[in-house]
Amino acid sequence: MTATLATPPTATKFAGKTKLFINNEWCDASDGGTFETYNPANGEVIAKVAHATKQDVDSAVKAARKALDKGPWGRMDAADRGKLMFKLADLLETHSEELARLESLNCGKTITDSRGDLGGVINCIRYYAGWADKIEGKTVPVRGNFLSYTLRQPVGVVGQIIPWNFPLLMAAWKWGPALACGNAIVMKAAEQTPLTALRLCELAQEAGFPAGVINMLNGMGETTGDAMVTHPGIDKIAFTGHVDTAKIITKRAADTLKRTTFELGGKSPNVVFADCDMEQAVAGAFHAIYFHGGQCCTAGSRLFVEEKIREEFVSRLADRARQRRVGNQLDEKTEQGPQVSQEQLDKILGYVDQGQKQGAKLVCGGKRAGDGKGYFVEPTIFDNVKDNMSIATDEIFGPVVSVLSFKDAEDMIERANNTTYGLAAAIWTKNIDKAHWYAKNVKAGTVWVNCYHIVDTTTPFGGFKMSGQGRENGEAALDHYTETKTVTVALS
Ligand code: NAI
Ligand code: MG
Repeated sequence: MTATLATPPTATKFAGKTKLFINNEWCDASDGGTFETYNPANGEVIAKVAHATKQDVDSAVKAARKALDKGPWGRMDAADRGKLMFKLADLLETHSEELARLESLNCGKTITDSRGDLGGVINCIRYYAGWADKIEGKTVPVRGNFLSYTLRQPVGVVGQIIPWNFPLLMAAWKWGPALACGNAIVMKAAEQTPLTALRLCELAQEAGFPAGVINMLNGMGETTGDAMVTHPGIDKIAFTGHVDTAKIITKRAADTLKRTTFELGGKSPNVVFADCDMEQAVAGAFHAIYFHGGQCCTAGSRLFVEEKIREEFVSRLADRARQRRVGNQLDEKTEQGPQVSQEQLDKILGYVDQGQKQGAKLVCGGKRAGDGKGYFVEPTIFDNVKDNMSIATDEIFGPVVSVLSFKDAEDMIERANNTTYGLAAAIWTKNIDKAHWYAKNVKAGTVWVNCYHIVDTTTPFGGFKMSGQGRENGEAALDHYTETKTVTVALS
């Protein structure tokens, strides 16, 4: 059922926190400003949320600095930091259904997907809680009669700017390593999805994090976000979002020479060889593009299919796409909720239009679904796509897959790598040599063999080329949240 909604959206009710969270206190914006946040299933306003000003950013930075320099946080045993994080993870577990529902309401992801995200959030906080007292330095065999050792110390006040597609999970990925390493946080959630981040702060407060360790600001990128990027008291910016925003941040952060880490978008090649398990590959390619309505940085949006199976493959993919249940994200049976905003809806439909004009074949979908109030898009497939069409080069961030045909593996990998992105890639084949050849040669930070979207908090995640800088998750993330200090002692 793609043209009509499976069930109408439920009425929007919200009684949670909407203020700024600074120094463990809830406060209005310094100028009283607010902005509205919506339920993307019906465009209704859920709540008005405080819009942080430059002055509020400054207050948050001061609170964070004080937590590091004068508060208990800077002096706390590493194991006790871990204990607080374990407590937070337990509270998240207790409140996971409530959080999942709020996440779905505000961001549009299905309740099933939100529950899955919550599992990832809890795992992430627990994983990094375990790291807190295991971040060790080294003793170094220097020349001469000296003892040299290294200390790994927090970077300081870290500014974290997150997007709307996985609001809680992105917060967890950024809080986890930052807290384990003993930093203090000033975070800005995405303007589309401010609500669960605020609830997260309430739970952090309940867990017992001292004042100033975690500060949450909401607001627009160009105002609140920019005030963070340019603030001299913020030592590092960790950002997830669009490549163009990362370019702006790089320029704006130059005057204060901030450390930056970026997790950006992709146009990931998902490659299907004729020797694959067809059933498994069709299901995998479907999940690769349509999971969360295509609003994933890792979405398998360039689907390379070996020519001899292309027709059958596309036809089987389309059969599934036509049956996808698009509708109210809080309905248990819904498989795809609304896109997050009018802006994203317009962007996606704009690309569908370009694809048709540039001569690709629209196999199915391509239209807005529903009653015209929610931001629903039909699962869409383009066949006969050429490498230079905009639907093959640009990140669409919606349920739109571009099918590209290939005959020769060497030619395919050259085309797969012919992009400014390099976040993820996948291959479907029963031939182990082919699988490892692809894994070695494709330029991407994550490669999946006969699976897709398997992301675990224990493994490094990030991009080659313009898909990012640095790595999140795993031990690798700790490097970006510590400074290494060398101490040398003269021995007599
Ligand atoms: P965006 O990059 O503008 O927003 C992401 C975050 O950055 C938000 O919190 C936003 O307020 C903030 N921001 C925006 N401009 C800023 C600035 N000048 N300084 C500091 N912070 C700033 O992404 P947007 O506009 O929400 O989505 C546009 C496209 O970006 C999507 O269609 C998709 O292609 C891509 N995107 C990629 C994501 C990923 O996971 N890699 C996540 C979200 C969007
Ligand atoms: Mg933007």
